[in-house]
Amino acid sequence: MLRIAVLGVGRIGRMHAENIAQHPRATLAGIYDAHPPAAHSVSELLNVTNFESSEAVFSSAEVDAVLIATSTPTHADYIEMAIAGGKPVLCEKPIDLSLERVNACASKIADSNVPIMLGFVRRFDIGHRGVRKAIEEGKIGDLHQVVITSRDPDIAPDSYIEVSGGIFRDMTIHDFDMARFILGEDITTVSATGSRLVSPALMERCDDYDTVSAVLTTASGKQCIINNSRRAVYGYDQRVEALGSLGMAISENRPMNHTRLYNAGFTDQAAPLLNFFIDRYDTAFAAEIDAFVDSIERGIAPEVGFEDGRQALILAEAAIRSAKESRTVNISEIG
Ligand SMILES: NC(=O)c1ccc[n+]([C@@H]2O[C@H](COP(=O)([O-])OP(=O)(O)OC[C@H]3O[C@@H](n4cnc5c(N)ncnc54)[C@H](O)[C@@H]3O)[C@@H](O)[C@H]2O)c1
Repeated sequence: MLRIAVLGVGRIGRMHAENIAQHPRATLAGIYDAHPPAAHSVSELLNVTNFESSEAVFSSAEVDAVLIATSTPTHADYIEMAIAGGKPVLCEKPIDLSLERVNACASKIADSNVPIMLGFVRRFDIGHRGVRKAIEEGKIGDLHQVVITSRDPDIAPDSYIEVSGGIFRDMTIHDFDMARFILGEDITTVSATGSRLVSPALMERCDDYDTVSAVLTTASGKQCIINNSRRAVYGYDQRVEALGSLGMAISENRPMNHTRLYNAGFTDQAAPLLNFFIDRYDTAFAAEIDAFVDSIERGIAPEVGFEDGRQALILAEAAIRSAKESRTVNISEIG
C-alpha cells in the first residue's frame, strides 16, 4: 500500500484525501493544512494523522508520497521540499503563476529523478481520452482542427478572481494542456482575445477578462480553438471536438442522468448539466490518483509531469501577451 499524505484540504484537497482513502492500493498517511479548523475536520472525518507542519510531512518515515492541494503560491516551495525529502509528488495545477518561479523550481529539481505528476485532471476524463485514442488509432485520419469549449457555471467570488492570476493562467491553463494532449505536437503560435462581459467592473479592476478565445497553431498547421467563459447559466460546459481528414471525434458534456422525458407539453427534455468540476470530473479525479499510484508502483514516469505544467504556463503567457497587444505571439518570444 502506497502511503500518501495530502497537503491542503480545502475544496479540492478534501476530495483527493477521500479518493486516496478509498483507493485499493493506497492509504491516506495523514493530512496537513495551515488552517487548523480545516485540518481538524478532515482528520476527524477520515480518522487520520493531522501533521503539525509541512516539514513533518516531508520528513516522515510513514509517508511514501505527497499530494499538494494547497493554494497556488505554495506549490513550487512544496514541490522543492518534497523532492528534497525524496517523496514523489502529485501537485495540483498550476505549478505557480510566475514563469520565472516555475523555471527556478525546474532548475532546482533538475538533477532529481523523484517523480512529479501535475494535476491536469481532464487528461483522465474518459471522453477526452477517447478523442485522443480515436486520433492515435487513425479513426479520423489526419488531424486538422481541435475545438475546446470550457465554460464555468458562474463566476467565482471576487476574492478568488483577485488572486487567480487572470483567466488564462487560472482557467484556460487546463485547455492549453488539453490542446497539447489532443494535438500531440508542439504549439508554435497563439492568438488570443479577451472581453469583459460577465462582470465588467471586477475585470477592469483586476485587469482580467471573463470571456476569452484563443487560436493555437502547430508547425504543421494544425489548429486548436479554445473558448472560455466564466459564466454559462446552463451549467459547467466541457466539450472537446477533433476534426480529421476522415471524420470527427467528440467528447460531449456528461448528463446528470441518461433519461429523457417526453409528454404532451414537451419532448426530449434532458436534465441540466453537471454543475462543476468535482461532479463533472469525479471519475477523472479517481483515475488521476490511480495513475499516480500506478506510476510509482511500476517505476514509470507519470503520464503528465512538471514540464507539461511549465508548457501550459508558457501558452498562458503567450495568450496574455497576444490579447494585450492584439497580435499573434510566437511561443519562442516567451522565455
Ligand atoms: N484540477 C482542478 O480542476 C482544480 C480545481 C480547483 C482548484 N485547483 C487547484 O487546487 C489548489 C487548491 O484549490 P482549492 O480550490 O481547493 O482552494 P481552497 O482555498 O479551498 O483550499 C486550499 C487549502 O490550502 C490551505 N493552505 C494554504 N496555504 C497553505 C500552506 N502554506 N500549507 C498548508 N495548507 C495551506 C488552505 O488553508 C486551504 O484549506 C489551487 O492551486 C487550485 O488552482 C485545481
